[in-house]
Amino acid sequence: MSGLFLTLEGIDGAGKSSHIDALEALFRAAGRAVTRTREPGGTPLAETLRGLILSQPMDALTESLLVFAARRDHIVQVIAPALARGDVVLCDRFTDATFAYQGAGRGFDTEVLSTLERWAQGGQGVDGGRDGLLQPDITLWFDLKPEIAAERLAGARLPDKFEAQPVEFFRRVAAGYAERAAAPRFARIDADRPRAQVWQQVEAALRERGLIA
Ligand code: TYD
Repeated sequence: MSGLFLTLEGIDGAGKSSHIDALEALFRAAGRAVTRTREPGGTPLAETLRGLILSQPMDALTESLLVFAARRDHIVQVIAPALARGDVVLCDRFTDATFAYQGAGRGFDTEVLSTLERWAQGGQGVDGGRDGLLQPDITLWFDLKPEIAAERLAGARLPDKFEAQPVEFFRRVAAGYAERAAAPRFARIDADRPRAQVWQQVEAALRERGLIA
């Protein structure tokens, strides 16, 4: 069986992470082995970088380099081997988050991000897709208005560096995701619904693409 690379995306507070348990259970019930992971993170080195990225102020290029360094380690150590085994890889965020947060949110040069993407997601040790780059097969995009996401986040916990950003930042991030969502691998999930209805949309998106029965 060939591997399946599924990513979850959306602005902070959109609720994507709350569906990962159910996704894992769904694929396991279908007899698939599942590797569950997240970005930035997923390896000891990448988790160390995550701690720095989410807590230290830094310029946007430094942040982008660290995000892609973490991603490269994650791909080589975890994602590529899991896909080669035929696993379903469930990854909480991936490169779309870099284009949305560092690109659209912070206004960093997306040409540079595309170059870093080619370095990190291609080359030795990585079995590339159509254009030679490792890309998700499907991306579940939890779309929610930044104002509503901010309400959901308020008081939930101590905010990290990104969660502490003003609503205007998340408006730009949301616009960045909307731009990325033209890619056919994107499935838009209307996250402004009761949880059960959000889950129904997730199941429908997977079924439409023949990924579950
Ligand atoms: P998140 O995935 O929301 O995890 P949690 O809900 O456990 O806090 O946190 C990761 C944060 O990192 C989020 O604010 C988005 C940000 N991020 C980037 O800025 N660039 C990236 O490339 C990735 C993967 C995440």
